[in-house]
Formats: sequence, structure tokens, C-alpha cells
Amino acid sequence: MTVKEFIPSPYTKSVASGKTTYKSPSNIALVKYWGKKENQIPANPSISFTLNECATVTTLSYRKVDGPNDAFSFEVSLDGKKEEGFKPKIKTFFERVYPYLPFLKEYHFEIETSNSFPHSSGIASSASGMSALALCLMEIERNLIPAMPAEFFNRKASFLARLGSGSAARSIKGSLVQWGEHAGTEGSSDLYGIEYPYKVHSVFNDYCDTILLVDKGQKQVSSTVGHDLMHDHPFSKQRFDQAHANLSKLRSIFEGGDLDGFIGLVESEALTLHAMMMTSRPYFILMKPNTLEIINRIWAYREATKTHVCFTLDAGANVHVLYPKNEKVLVEGFIADELAGYCQNGQFIHDHVGRGAQKIN
Ligand code: PMV
Repeated sequence: MTVKEFIPSPYTKSVASGKTTYKSPSNIALVKYWGKKENQIPANPSISFTLNECATVTTLSYRKVDGPNDAFSFEVSLDGKKEEGFKPKIKTFFERVYPYLPFLKEYHFEIETSNSFPHSSGIASSASGMSALALCLMEIERNLIPAMPAEFFNRKASFLARLGSGSAARSIKGSLVQWGEHAGTEGSSDLYGIEYPYKVHSVFNDYCDTILLVDKGQKQVSSTVGHDLMHDHPFSKQRFDQAHANLSKLRSIFEGGDLDGFIGLVESEALTLHAMMMTSRPYFILMKPNTLEIINRIWAYREATKTHVCFTLDAGANVHVLYPKNEKVLVEGFIADELAGYCQNGQFIHDHVGRGAQKIN
């Protein structure tokens, strides 16, 4: 599909007002997206597990205004409190998606949002937040175009979410979602995420992810700045090629349930992401001493127990501990006994792979 196919024909129906609610999950990348081109086109393809517990619930109320507004008209609240701080990001999002949702200036919107995870836990809420908002907006469009096929609905929701935050494109539908064109993955696109189309061994069903909250402070470097630093990065070409190669390798790993192959690839991806940060100019480090303590503990535990626990990182100090469901009891014990002490206030969140966003209302 091309960008043009997401521009609707003039609407023939009209809707005066309404309200819709979506719950949309966060996701954790296995092959990382780091670096982008213009218009939120990723420099390399990525793939993620969809999470289940870490999610954003967004209610969008809308009512038609008398004549079309010159500017976007909206209010936004987090946990029932007005959040002026969110407005610039949403305004930018509206500007980017306006060509694809021409009804936007005809309505006033109230956006009420809440996260299941603690605010400023260092867990990125952009993927869940932007995908939830994109889904609510698509619900309005579905009212204007009732014949819209479900597949197109999800695809366009992912397309729009991507324009809010790249990784949000992977938070619409499916447990394992790939975003970005890759020669080895049929149907893959830079414009939206797709459910991974190949066989996945049952050992990856309900895979567990415990998120260790190592540092809940504000990140020193935003992911927007980090993506930009890949432009003149000395290793960018090798990195982008490696992401393609890793996606190709994942195919047999997923199909055969090759956990050792999975662990090696996923941990290398996480460390490569941070290596890119450490080797950009300016360089920066988002890991904290406790991030490294945890990684070493995980390695020692895996060696001693022959379990299949491994880690991945996103753009921050928190550690995602990944393990198969059949090792849950053992690994959860290890986390409580040996890793919780490295978390801020002992905090961690047990999560597992989910199926994607849900319409609540
Ligand atoms: O969606 P963004 O622009 O915040 O970028 C997210 C980048 C990583 O989380 C570091 C990796 C990924 O693929 O999710």
C-alpha cells in the first residue's frame, strides 16, 4: 500500500458527537528500531512482543463545531487531571495525521487517558498512548465510513500511530508485530506494522517479560534525539544491515523454538542499541550501574540453572527480563530474591505477551 491509500474519499456520512474508548498495550522490541528517515520512516525493520499488562486506556469524546476550526481544538487529561504538558505532542500528531483524517478540524475533542503503569516509571507510554489515540480516531472514521473492512481499520490505525511515535505502529494487533520493510517478510511495510506472518513455536506463547524499574527519572536524551544521531553515525550502515540480518535469522528461531538462538540475538540487539548511543556524537549512556548488575546476575543465574532467562533494554535504564512461561515459577523467585534489590523502591512489573489493543466502548 502507498501513503495515498490512507487518504479517504470525501465522507458521505456525518456524525455530530460521540465517545469511544480503547485500551492499547506497550510493546518491547526484540530487533530494535533506532534511526529514522523523514516522515517517521524507519531506517531499519524491527519486531516486538506486544505486552499485556502495561497499557494505556484512552477515551475520546468528540462533538462537531459550528464551522471548521482554523486550529485543532482539544483538551487532554491524565488520570482525571488536565495535562497541558501533553498538548504540544498531540498537536504535532494532529498536524501529521490531518491529511489522512480530514475531519479533525470539524470537531472539538476531549482526550482522557490513563496508564496502567506508574507515571514516570521510565516505561515509555508513547507506544501505548499514541496507538490508543490513533484507534479512537479510527473509530470516528469508521462511523463516517461504515463499510470499512477490519483489516484496513487496523492497518490505518498502525499507520497513524506510527506518525505519533514509531514504535506505536507495533501496538495495534497481534502478539509479535513487525514494522519496516524486510525482504524476507512478506507484506512488511515501512508505513505500518503487520502481525508476524510465519510459524511461531508454542514455547513463545505467553512469553514472560518482567520489567525491572531501575531508574524512574527523566531520560537525559529523548528517543527523538537518539534517532537523529544515527544520521551521521559511523556505524549506521552496519547497524541497519545487521537488523535486516537478525530479522532473517529470527525466522528459523521462531519456527523451531530455538531458545538459545533467541537469547543470543535478543541480548545482542539490546547491547547494540546502547552501543549505538555510546558511539554517536554526542555520545551518551542511558544504562545505570544497576542495569549492569542485573545483566550480570541474569547471566550468572542462566549459567548456573540452565534456564532460558535473558534480558533486553529499551532506550533507558530499565531491564526487561524475558523467559518462557514454563520457567515462570523459578525465574519469578530469582527476580524477587536477587534482582528486586537493584530496582528503585524494589519495583518491578510482571507482564507477558498479549494480543493487542481492545475496544472498551
Ligand atoms: O517510538 P520511539 O520513537 O520512542 O522509538 C523507540 C525506540 C526503542 O524503544 C529504543 C526501540 C524500539 O524498537 O522500540
